[in-house]
Amino acid sequence: MPLTFDDLLPRARALPRGGRRALLGIAGSPGAGKTTLAERLVRALNGDGPPWVAHVPMDGFHLADAELDRLGRRDRKGAPDTFDAAGYAALLRRLREETGEVVYAPGFERVLEQPLAGAIPVPPEARLVVTEGNYLLLTDGPWARVRPCLDEVWFCDIAEEERIRRLVARHEEFGKARAAAVAWVLGTDQRNADLVAATRERADLVVPAAALPAAPLPEG
Ligand SMILES: Nc1ncnc2c1ncn2[C@@H]1O[C@H](COP(=O)(O)OP(=O)(O)O)[C@@H](O)[C@H]1O
Ligand SMILES: [Mg+2]
Repeated sequence: MPLTFDDLLPRARALPRGGRRALLGIAGSPGAGKTTLAERLVRALNGDGPPWVAHVPMDGFHLADAELDRLGRRDRKGAPDTFDAAGYAALLRRLREETGEVVYAPGFERVLEQPLAGAIPVPPEARLVVTEGNYLLLTDGPWARVRPCLDEVWFCDIAEEERIRRLVARHEEFGKARAAAVAWVLGTDQRNADLVAATRERADLVVPAAALPAAPLPEG
């Protein structure tokens, strides 16, 4: 039987053990569907009850353009060394520690393409934190500190052609011209995608694109 979205829910629900907060990671290449999967999981798990599942994207740890300019790395935006990986790992550790206070995570503003501090509150009641991003399973430098903070990591698997189609469409949706979107996706983004694809075997579970319904669910 192929894995379905409904199979994922009990597996995620079982992660917090003995009342302790659990962290679930979702990894995958750019455009693989990580954010969409995380949003749907969080919505389905929270249902209409009091929220006990939070969503913390790795994207909030993009370095700001001003810092990328200073480092001379603006043209590599999205590569592993254009994120504050150590800051992300430190936030994950704080989330595990459970100090009883709200932990604020940064968000990523897609139109400005800039991080935004203090955008995502994780309340002390959150028993499961779903965090998602490209580089959760990398083992270089500070990225190596991420995996030990996570209870499980799932990997979004998708045919390369479909991933590229979706990613180009998303860049266009957020304001890039088609030619610029294609050039970015097949250039800078592709190197990052290849790096991520090589981490797939370290995942605890591979989630095929078919496990998500094709049409995005209506809001609410
Ligand atoms: N199951 C799906 N069916 C169709 N389109 C999808 C599906 N999941 C995601 N998408 C679309 O593909 C694009 C990339 O998905 P996203 O979740 O943003 O990927 P990631 O966070 O891995 O970069 C988005 O525009 C999203 O709306
Ligand atoms: Mg995303």
